[in-house]
Amino acid sequence: MDVFAGDPRSADTDLVIVAAFEDAASALATAWSAPTGGEIDRAIDSKEFSGKLYEMFVTPIVDRGYRARRVAAVGLGIQSDFTVDRARRAAAAMGLTARQKKIARVAFLANGVLETGEMIQAIAEGLTLAEFDAGRYKTAGYDSFELTGLGIIVEKRVQHEAEPAARRGRVIGEHCNMARQLDNEPGNALTPSVFADRVSEIARSGGLTVEVLDHHALERLGMGMLLGVGRGSAEPPRLVSIRYEPPDAPPSPVLGLVGKGITFDTGGISIKPAADMDRMKDDMAGGAAVACAMRALAELRAPIRVIGVIPIAENMPGGYAIRPGDVLKSASGKTVEVINTDAEGRLILGDALWYAKEMGATHLVDVATLTGAISVALGGITSGLFGTPTTFLEHVRDIAERAGDRCWPLPLFDEYKDQLRSEIADMINTGGRLGGAITAALFLKEFTGGLPWVHMDIAGTAWAEENKPFMPKGPTGVGLRTLVELAFTSDTWSHFGAP
Ligand code: BES
Ligand code: MN
Ligand code: ZN
Repeated sequence: MDVFAGDPRSADTDLVIVAAFEDAASALATAWSAPTGGEIDRAIDSKEFSGKLYEMFVTPIVDRGYRARRVAAVGLGIQSDFTVDRARRAAAAMGLTARQKKIARVAFLANGVLETGEMIQAIAEGLTLAEFDAGRYKTAGYDSFELTGLGIIVEKRVQHEAEPAARRGRVIGEHCNMARQLDNEPGNALTPSVFADRVSEIARSGGLTVEVLDHHALERLGMGMLLGVGRGSAEPPRLVSIRYEPPDAPPSPVLGLVGKGITFDTGGISIKPAADMDRMKDDMAGGAAVACAMRALAELRAPIRVIGVIPIAENMPGGYAIRPGDVLKSASGKTVEVINTDAEGRLILGDALWYAKEMGATHLVDVATLTGAISVALGGITSGLFGTPTTFLEHVRDIAERAGDRCWPLPLFDEYKDQLRSEIADMINTGGRLGGAITAALFLKEFTGGLPWVHMDIAGTAWAEENKPFMPKGPTGVGLRTLVELAFTSDTWSHFGAP
């Protein structure tokens, strides 16, 4: 990510991106009339460009004093509705459009309200997110035009702040794309052992300490829930743990990040219907977000210790698969009657949350494609957020909002727990049809050992079902940006009741 400080004329790029508010589009005309030979004014007068959110207008720069040959205006909507996420999305939308137009190098002019570090970081993230390409398995005639130069143009006086912000956005965007790449991998390519290897490689190359537990080690730890889910597959389960321990970090707090790593979810013996089952290849999106977030926060030198735990299994029917009615013993000692083998995420996460605490975590955050019920409640736009204490939940919610991971809190009232009562074990693994995302979260809570904990249910948001100007269909990388940013806010955690 280049930072061009000073005169936009000298920015070495093909396309200068300028942003405009719907209620102040004329400001653009003033600044860009001469370089575009009056084209911008004409477009604004005729309403061809009005500054509506994500609206775009591309025109040549006729002033030969510019190194760029074109300018693109992108709409930011009404000023009073503006958020940092709109800046991120506008940048992503322009990056995607540049690729479509085969424009390889773009630079976003960050002036006015876009001049702050927070905005510059978001723009760098957005531009980087536009680099993501889903066509790895395409062969004949596949045209994947790549962006080769991304930049941000700022005034000299903010260069000092802009450079680290741009770098931070670049790192976060790249790791978000890394997670999206993993989410996209089909189940035959990304089996549990391959996923564990990829996660280790990602973490090791970032200088992190990695440990991969195979099924023998899981047996020694008594992780009956993770082992149980893995039994139906020819590939045994794994658990990958990642440690980030900067030498100057205080001994506490220790952030524990836990991500669901089901490489494919058939439902097991409680098998899913055929329609859309292919989608279940991204049931490891939470695990990918955790692994890539760990690498990003290490690269950005987060000031606290962080532990990542990714339980990995393939949920398959098979001769050794667990059956409805089976009882599993968790690593924590609690016993669980498996009513539905398709409620496998909470089983593997229960053992992983317990393990994160064993490893020394004082605060837990898990990210999981956990329930279809969360999409019924919140659709594909917003992830469900659960947790305790409320102060910690609200803190994560705040960070997620700024990071561009839309979240909304749902309750964990005790009364819902009645749905998890078992006749023969400590609990069953699924509540009824109603409140399904809540009972799933309450199940997880049983394994958090009383630590401050937040659970993000990303089943509706990990995969975009339709193209948006700022995000193509497919994996979104949701959760990653929140996890990375969270690791930089520990100075405010003392009132969350950590031990
Ligand atoms: N991986 C699914 C949840 C999911 C559904 C993710 C749709 C993405 C899109 C999870 O393991 C699951 O199957 N949950 C069940 C739970 C039920 C059996 C209690 C569900 O939501 O139907
Ligand atoms: Mn399932
Ligand atoms: Zn699942």
